[in-house]
Amino acid sequence: QKDGFKHFMLKEIFEQPKVIRDCLTGRIQKGRVVLPELDALNVPQRLTVVACGTSYHAGLWAKYLLESWARIPVQVEIASEFRYRDSVFLPGDLVLTISQSGETADTLAAIRIAREAGVPILGLCNVVGSSIARESDAVVYTQAGPEISVASTKAMCSQMVLLLLMTLSWGVRKGVLQGEILERCLHDLPLLPDQLEAELPTIREKAKTLSQEYADARSFFFLGRGQNFPLALEGALKLKEISYIHAEGYAAGEMKHGPIALIDQHFPTFAMALGDELLQKVASNLQEVQARGGRIIALVNPGASPAVENPWVLSDAWGPLKSFLVLPAVQLFAYEMAVYLGKDVDQPRNLAKSVTVE
Ligand code: F6R
Repeated sequence: QKDGFKHFMLKEIFEQPKVIRDCLTGRIQKGRVVLPELDALNVPQRLTVVACGTSYHAGLWAKYLLESWARIPVQVEIASEFRYRDSVFLPGDLVLTISQSGETADTLAAIRIAREAGVPILGLCNVVGSSIARESDAVVYTQAGPEISVASTKAMCSQMVLLLLMTLSWGVRKGVLQGEILERCLHDLPLLPDQLEAELPTIREKAKTLSQEYADARSFFFLGRGQNFPLALEGALKLKEISYIHAEGYAAGEMKHGPIALIDQHFPTFAMALGDELLQKVASNLQEVQARGGRIIALVNPGASPAVENPWVLSDAWGPLKSFLVLPAVQLFAYEMAVYLGKDVDQPRNLAKSVTVE
């Protein structure tokens, strides 16, 4: 069942090229996004995304695209908070729930609140026929295949692909997205699986080397800006849940508002310093970290690295597609760290695959 991989988590990380391919199959035709699941719903005037854990991070990641490309105002909510707040709904709202299992109790409760309020509900789910799928007005399936490892990996990758396609679809329907972005995205997305497939073994090797070098750390910061901020949150979540190393994901610009006080040579930073428009801002945050003796691993693109102790060069991709290389890097770093520390990777302590209780 593990297809020769030592753990389900590793197998599922390496399945991501196939997951992207499967998510795209039939959904890009003649230069258009084909998502008939969305046809019955109006393009939202405002979107509330509700999810937990890794699925919540996928929602946060998508907010940047939905606002910028589809010009839809987006709020992303942790389901356990949303369900006990007195949210204000407006005409034209849509609630989008994201869930791998489709059984997460808090996310399901959020659906029921939206239903009570008469707000249409779109589910983004992996498990066909799950409770969340059944209770939503429309469902988009992520087609990631069964995810066995408790730590979610390929599901997030599939959610990101579908959220990207939804953004394109809504942006076109609204008439706010044409030309270069659309064409470039539709051209480059199908190239991603091959690129990732070629890159994964190298990413894993680097993850192994670095995890050993940093295995004595008791705490880690994960820093990013823009779309790399949710990926920093995800990197921190993965590291804590399977290696039991304390990790905090932070928006890099927020460091100076308090957390930088923690930095010393024993508190390393894992930064996302990709070659995008925010690189200079991240680089100056990293200088602050280094000035306090903090060790740094930084994911970078070729030719665009800030001066840090451990630059980790990923092959480049266009715009938000860079995220599909960042994600497996943080996943494999956590994986290799947990393996090195002798932890039970697929069954971390205190965790269950589906959180069907509050
Ligand atoms: C993290 C993890 C959890 C889930 C969360 C939501 O690796 O697996 O944080 O992402 O419990 O689960 P779903 O997506 O099934 O609603």
